[in-house]
Amino acid sequence: PLAKPPERIPTGSLATVRRKAKQCRDCPLWMHATQTVFGEGPADAQVMLIGEQPGAQEDLQGAPFVGPAGRMLDKALTQAGLSREAVYLTNTVKHFKFEPRGKARLHKRANAAEQAACRQWLAAELLRVKPRLVVAMGAMAAQALFGARFRMTQQRGQWQPLAAQAEGIATWHPSYVLRTRGGDARERAYAELVKDLRQVAARLA
Ligand code: URA
Repeated sequence: PLAKPPERIPTGSLATVRRKAKQCRDCPLWMHATQTVFGEGPADAQVMLIGEQPGAQEDLQGAPFVGPAGRMLDKALTQAGLSREAVYLTNTVKHFKFEPRGKARLHKRANAAEQAACRQWLAAELLRVKPRLVVAMGAMAAQALFGARFRMTQQRGQWQPLAAQAEGIATWHPSYVLRTRGGDARERAYAELVKDLRQVAARLA
């Protein structure tokens, strides 16, 4: 149920699709990244959480949300009464993009062409897992799911119908919460993230 479906969706089981994604050369990001970071979680999960793209830690470990953003997400999931093991966790874009700065690798946002080239993998994950509830974390995931006109500031935390009897909701990305500074802005954003995830837990119950 993506707003702009890809031209073709890779076929086969989730394990097969994951294997195919490891070999993806459909945009230039594979050249400098360590590996494809595919989604993780039960193939029959009722909830799918979609982030933006892997960070440096995820690139090295080959798993989504294992760095600082992942630690914040784990905390928020626990506070919302959701278990990380029960959800399928993935990203809109499956390769790390960065700019070398000395020894560091500075995160760079995937551009529209890279996002479009990667959409096939997210579409395949949605098709195989068939989650009942889909959570888009951050604008990149929200726009992939709900369309380019989706506005986080106005539509965050509101359920949206998706195809195939699914429903979706957008919330803040944990990295956005981590980056937020000034007054109690960060606490407020974190509280909203937890509140949105609680809505997911409530729909499951
Ligand atoms: N941020 C994301 O969007 N995804 C990850 O996997 C890690 C950080």
